[in-house]
Amino acid sequence: MSKLPTDFFFGAAMSGPQTEGAWRRFGKVDNLWDTWSNERIEDFHNRVGSYAGNDFTDRHNEDFAILRDLGLTSWRTSIQWSRLMDADGRVNPEGAAYYHELFADAKKAGLETFVCLYHFDMPTYLFRRGGWDSREVVEAYGNYARAALEEFGGEIKYWFTFNEPVVEPQNRYTFGAWYPFHHDFAEARRVQYGISLAHCLGVAAFRDLQAAGTVRPDAKIGLINCFTPPYTRENPSEADLEAVRMTDGIDNRWWLDLVTKGTLPQDVMATLAERGVDVPVRPGDEQILAQGRVDWLGFNYYHPARVQAPSSDTDEYGNPVFASEYVWPDAVMNESRGWEIYPKGIYDFAMTMKRDYPDLEWYVSENGIGIEGEDSSKDASGAIQDDYRIDFVGQHLQWIAKAIEDGAKCRGYHYWAVIDNWSWNNAFKNRYGFVEVNLSDNYSRHLKKSASWLREVATTHEIAPHSEGFVSESA
Ligand code: BG6
Repeated sequence: MSKLPTDFFFGAAMSGPQTEGAWRRFGKVDNLWDTWSNERIEDFHNRVGSYAGNDFTDRHNEDFAILRDLGLTSWRTSIQWSRLMDADGRVNPEGAAYYHELFADAKKAGLETFVCLYHFDMPTYLFRRGGWDSREVVEAYGNYARAALEEFGGEIKYWFTFNEPVVEPQNRYTFGAWYPFHHDFAEARRVQYGISLAHCLGVAAFRDLQAAGTVRPDAKIGLINCFTPPYTRENPSEADLEAVRMTDGIDNRWWLDLVTKGTLPQDVMATLAERGVDVPVRPGDEQILAQGRVDWLGFNYYHPARVQAPSSDTDEYGNPVFASEYVWPDAVMNESRGWEIYPKGIYDFAMTMKRDYPDLEWYVSENGIGIEGEDSSKDASGAIQDDYRIDFVGQHLQWIAKAIEDGAKCRGYHYWAVIDNWSWNNAFKNRYGFVEVNLSDNYSRHLKKSASWLREVATTHEIAPHSEGFVSESA
């Protein structure tokens, strides 16, 4: 039996674009999800676009009551830039009233709200002006962050500038998986740099407004990223280790250095320059980057990265390649999502943090398992029998408990997503929830088998082994 500290918190992670719906209500303008849905709805699973979320806007009080009933004490959402601000960069009063009501209702329900300012949801009019590759847009983010902090700084204690800043450079600009479907590694690095500067402007606004008394004195600011620890094969070659260095450098150390030292990793910048990848650093940027240090960190963990030396130096688009995927023969997969399940990765990251960034506190800001076709595991009463979810979460929590025992500064855990929600272009294909959302019955909510297990764990902080489970290395 593993035990988590009594002050360890449990909560629910979600995001505005994946839950709110309320498309074009409360003065919302379009973001890239709306634009992609409008232009190519066939790209979305079952043609379900961005418009309805999981009906959270109209059901949020019911959802808050469910979270409390499950023993959770906090939740994270994101403010949608496209709802809070109008296309002239001014606060949209209807959007502001919308979030004031949401946060007040969460407080009434007894939930602490964590707010993230950006969750892959670039307003379309700003994308048309260059998106993260444009300084004008980076500055617009600074303006938006300042406005949000002025509006809600007296209410909200926990702030985050970005969720998973690695994902847009990859999915939109390198892999061509998300709108606008580019395959340009150099553009992806420029976007990554733009997001880095924007993060720093957000932190700078937070510090100014906290000093001025607009942001509450006990508030903290952080960054959330999916820090997938990179592993390689046994007995690696030098080239394999080089693949690990660059994967770790671009996806992990880039952000960890920024938020702890206010700089970017010089070895990574040097290798990029050697390979002809130009990061557009301007005079004065050093001072901006120096403002990037945060108070704590959010760590989203779903799967590890496994890499090896690239099979070729460039890809079919002429982009430099630093690593190829390594398929570990012992990998256990979540076939619905194509992601490896490796709970020990959470511990390994925790130990890296302890060694390399010992002063930084953090929490697990997302962790979860999305499964397709859960309807087929309903029992006679209609409740989904999701033992795999209990195994998955239980094993990750056991590794977190061990990491804390071994000195990791991990303060809490938010599950993604306690209530099924809209997963981008996968829409409702893979379900993450402890709570089912029934799309055939007006988004009604129903507890799955795992819900009572979660309630027990969140209340007692004890994690009993559920079954041998599906992982090759357990706590
Ligand atoms: C994280 C994101 O990467 O993973 C969430 O912050 C996302 O927005 C979650 O929903 C699960 O991934 P997916 O693609 O299955 O929804």
